[in-house]
Amino acid sequence: RSQSHDRSNSMGVNLANDAALESLAGQIRSATTTWSATPLVPGAQPAGTKIEVTNPADRRMHVGDWLPADSATVERALVNAVAAQPAWDATPAASRAAILEHAADLLEQRMPQFIALCTREAGKTIPDGVAEVREAVDFLRYYAGQARSAFVPEALPGPTGESNALQLAGRGVFVCISPWNFPLAIFAGQIAAALAAGNSVLAKPAEQTTLVGFEAVKLLHEAGIPKDVLQYLPGDGATVGAALTSDPRVAGVAFTGSTETARAINRALAARDAAIGVLIAETGGQNALIADSSALPEQLVKDALASAFTSAGQRCSAARVLFVQADIADKVIGMIAGAMAELVVGDPALLSTDVGPVIDTDAKALLDEHATRMQGAAKFIAEAKLGAGTEHGTFFAPRAWELQSLSQLTRENFGPALHVIRWNADQLDAVVDAINATGFGLTLGIHSRIDETVERVIQRAKVGNVYVNRNQIGAVVGVQPFGGQNLSGTGPKAGGPHYLPRFATEKTVTINT
Ligand code: NAD
Ligand code: ALA
Repeated sequence: RSQSHDRSNSMGVNLANDAALESLAGQIRSATTTWSATPLVPGAQPAGTKIEVTNPADRRMHVGDWLPADSATVERALVNAVAAQPAWDATPAASRAAILEHAADLLEQRMPQFIALCTREAGKTIPDGVAEVREAVDFLRYYAGQARSAFVPEALPGPTGESNALQLAGRGVFVCISPWNFPLAIFAGQIAAALAAGNSVLAKPAEQTTLVGFEAVKLLHEAGIPKDVLQYLPGDGATVGAALTSDPRVAGVAFTGSTETARAINRALAARDAAIGVLIAETGGQNALIADSSALPEQLVKDALASAFTSAGQRCSAARVLFVQADIADKVIGMIAGAMAELVVGDPALLSTDVGPVIDTDAKALLDEHATRMQGAAKFIAEAKLGAGTEHGTFFAPRAWELQSLSQLTRENFGPALHVIRWNADQLDAVVDAINATGFGLTLGIHSRIDETVERVIQRAKVGNVYVNRNQIGAVVGVQPFGGQNLSGTGPKAGGPHYLPRFATEKTVTINT
């Protein structure tokens, strides 16, 4: 079972108590460390201009720089990956797994450094940083464990005089493309599964979080993954990402990010004059939380705010809309406004902070635009106060509005923005149908103490992850396999039993004995 909720580890780094976290927070605030990232491609001589990285919480603060991969480096990486894959595929799955488990141990040992980097580069709060590293460790161990069992040929029953067995093998070269909001966990999770299954990997991080990705790939190399089996290609989606996904040498793509980009990748794979490429896409959501009048108001408000505002709302799983039954709506809305007045918005390197910055000026501009649109279209409920020092960062104060209808939301608003809609007792099915009609299907929260209502919603809702009487974020690897349906993704679910086999081909061997 995953250890995600445990902040300590077995390697001597103990982040389990408040004093240790306080000391780490102090170190992050006072440290002057900077980082630098380049492509990691044997035999390439990447050239070009480095791009500066600044801290989302304070744009005056230099965090490091990175060099994007140029087209010659991308080509060299593809050649290397094709050449290296057969030997890696022939390496016993147990040996591949042992390297990934060693990487998990190293990551645990270096937890404080990775938390610091996640805070500096991605604006993660420290609790989010702890969860991020733990999830990455869990993914490495989970897919390693699966590879040990799934890659043993399975003997099948058959007629006398012949033996039949089903065996798995890597598909070839896999491209892993990840988003900035889980720069370590999703990045490492995709790579771990692709490597565990015997593929060579070209890892392309999000442009906003290239430093975390670079440090993670270096750690995987140190653990024993050959440098031509796992190569690092930071760069633009439109250049490096598109060049990789349109290349006929690529067997499959593991992608997490927006639905729009998943569609572009799907088209690029289909347009190639090559074998049909596999696409595993985990995308966005328009996630709802439905509360009926039997819900416990205190628990509902706590879970709604945690689901909407944790990680500054920059989680694909985050609640965007709270459907609350009309007879408790005024009370719940009043409590939401009261709780939002208590939110601490500010420096993510302070343990007292609830909500940190959003990732960049583009993200902030989109949220500001949404807030302007809401001014005319919705009833204002509350806006949290921005803390001291936030004027130098890309902060968006958490906000809540009341809407008349879900159709007023025309896109995923990726930040701390919560919308509330009232419903009447006879409208439960209509509420679920409206949620389904968005086309997204990622997470759904239900707050109700009526079993029949809970069952009815679970049956009707077309979503990937349902959470009842709790918050709807933070799926734990191996415990809550995570991923959506329809516009929210192709499946299989990350951290679930069906994920790893999707990275592999199946071969049936029949021998006349
Ligand atoms: P994005 O789609 O803009 O970028 C994701 C990645 O795709 C980046 O590495 C980017 O460089 C790359 N990319 C962009 N265009 C490309 C192209 N044409 N070809 C190849 N690669 C390309 O998404 P984002 O803004 O980084 O992340 C936020 C989105 O991710 C949200 O929609 C969120 O819901 C989603 N998300 C989903 C999950 C999930 O598990 N379902 C998890 C986290 C984030
Ligand atoms: N897996 C992440 C969550 O559950 C996105 O919040």
